[in-house]
Amino acid sequence: MTAITFIHPNGRSDRVETSDGESAMQAATRHGLDGILAECGGNAMCATCHVYVDDGWLTRLPPIGDEEDALLDGTACDRLPNSRLSCQIRITTELDGLVLRLPERQV
Ligand code: FES
Repeated sequence: MTAITFIHPNGRSDRVETSDGESAMQAATRHGLDGILAECGGNAMCATCHVYVDDGWLTRLPPIGDEEDALLDGTACDRLPNSRLSCQIRITTELDGLVLRLPERQV
């Protein structure tokens, strides 16, 4: 089992177990995590699944696609160099221990 951790803006953290092939967004919403809205259901259309990837993990993720790159320019909170859309982060066992920080708001 692979687990990833979401850290909320107030410092609270939630460790979430994931299945291979699931997206980080799907893992978060399946566990009822607040802070990820995912209004488009993972179709790369809404940017309400924005996360900041913790130090050291960014280079271990697949590169940003063109759609994701464009959407990240429209996030509710500032886009930072470590911004990603969690629906585009496909979980594999290599990502066990991944840490994603949630922005202050998604809309
Ligand atoms: S869930 Fe809509 S862009 Fe990720």
